[in-house]
Amino acid sequence: MDSIPANRQLWNRISSAYQHKHDPHIGAAPRLWGMYSLPDTHLNALGEVTGRRVLELGCGAGQWSRALAAEGATVIGLDLSEAQLAAAARAMGPARYPLVQGAAEQLPFAADTFDLVFCDFGGLSWAPPHLAVPQAARVLRPGGRLVFNVASPWFEACYDEAAARVTTTLQQDYFGLDTIAEGGGAMSYQLTYGDWVRVLRGAGLVIDDLIEPRPGPATPNGYNETHPPDWAHRWPAELLWVTHKP
Ligand SMILES: C[S@@+](CC[C@H](N)C(=O)[O-])C[C@H]1O[C@@H](n2cnc3c(N)ncnc32)[C@H](O)[C@@H]1O
Repeated sequence: MDSIPANRQLWNRISSAYQHKHDPHIGAAPRLWGMYSLPDTHLNALGEVTGRRVLELGCGAGQWSRALAAEGATVIGLDLSEAQLAAAARAMGPARYPLVQGAAEQLPFAADTFDLVFCDFGGLSWAPPHLAVPQAARVLRPGGRLVFNVASPWFEACYDEAAARVTTTLQQDYFGLDTIAEGGGAMSYQLTYGDWVRVLRGAGLVIDDLIEPRPGPATPNGYNETHPPDWAHRWPAELLWVTHKP
């Protein structure tokens, strides 16, 4: 099913409220990963980007792209939503970088273009991975890296829809999590561990690491209520995949 039109509408509709709520945290410092804004200086997922050609899939307001451009990367921020791209344009710093409207499942770039393709709850959470991962692999040059952070299956399986919080009880089947209805036909995507491995390897990528970001017991989740509050200190809330194209 094509979720592009509905996801675009969703993000155009929620962009302003989303940025109002989250940008003060996720834009506060460079290179912060995920729901707990964990610094990449601790996780060491992205590596050196100076002089590299970098594509962010689903850049939102460009908190990441802006930081990497300031480090001297040649960054392109791609996003489906014109409202999110407008927010990125407004927030752009002195290191300018191009913004492109497009979908992670249909990348408008030639093969072998980028040294690094990455996202943080971006295109690989909001586009079908069996389409978006091969696209990312196609536009990477040999030796280039695909690095991305998504919610973990643990987090999704323990999410209680009615109470709108993550719990210690399994709420949903692990098998069959793959599409999550976000309202109005919009979809986000979730794979099992095995399906991620198969999709990545099927696109010809080599898996170098699977980082499971672990916040401290008192680190706040900027997005979701969890019960207990230190849930993600005890179980993995996110998967940070580090891969490369041989
Ligand atoms: C949660 S934001 C990620 C950006 C930033 N890291 C953040 O956390 O705010 C998700 C972004 O993915 C974009 N998006 C949704 N579907 C997409 C798709 N199919 N291709 C590319 N971007 C998409 C949305 O417009 C939104 O800006």
